[in-house]
Amino acid sequence: MSRRAASIFMDEAAIAAASKGTFTVAVSGGTTPLRFFELLASKFRGDVPWDRVHIFWVDERCVSSGHEDSNYKGAHEAFLSEVDIPPENIHRIKGELSPDEGAREYEEELRRYFGRGGLPVFDLVVLGVGEDGHTASLFPDGPSLSETGRLAIPVYVNKMRSWRITLTLPVLNNASHILFLVTGRKKALVLKEILENDVNNPKYPASLIRPFNGKVTWLLDSEASSQLTAIS
Ligand code: 6PG
Repeated sequence: MSRRAASIFMDEAAIAAASKGTFTVAVSGGTTPLRFFELLASKFRGDVPWDRVHIFWVDERCVSSGHEDSNYKGAHEAFLSEVDIPPENIHRIKGELSPDEGAREYEEELRRYFGRGGLPVFDLVVLGVGEDGHTASLFPDGPSLSETGRLAIPVYVNKMRSWRITLTLPVLNNASHILFLVTGRKKALVLKEILENDVNNPKYPASLIRPFNGKVTWLLDSEASSQLTAIS
């Protein structure tokens, strides 16, 4: 699955860099993408035009960039520190600021980069799914799911008793290509809900990912897909 994900990243980067000179990607945190990240810094390293890549995050925990929970730290250690991406191409969410300041600063960074008219269009967004069906830091039944005016917002996650900053659904759904990476038996039942039962269900925020114009690719391992009836 991780190799397939790295291959998609490589292909999308080549296409975007050739057509418009840049490739914009927003990545998730968590554990699922780590092997994918490592492959980008090893097997696929020489196949990506890193000087054209602009990396963003779909979310961040409100901690310093050196904190073990930081999504930036995870990506930096797994691949960003190993590839020749210019520092100015790394658009970190400043989790060390207050949640509201961090969200507003990230929103300003997005507008600085993508322009102020309309929604950012990411070439690729890499998402995971939590066992509760969350994606990015959009958690079940939360007010964040109905946010349409902001590009990024602070979210207090009750069960984790912690703040996060997340891209909002309109930004995610405006991407050209959304790539879900999901592994493990613990995700099998929530995946069945998302992929085979009730779509657009706020109990499963990942089911609200319906790109306006883009496409969605689901990469699952055999355990995560074990409860699905039809696999294409
Ligand atoms: C985060 C991620 C989050 C993640 C899911 C799945 O900040 O944690 O953005 O949305 O993708 O929680 O996490 P795992 O890959 O660790 O299962």
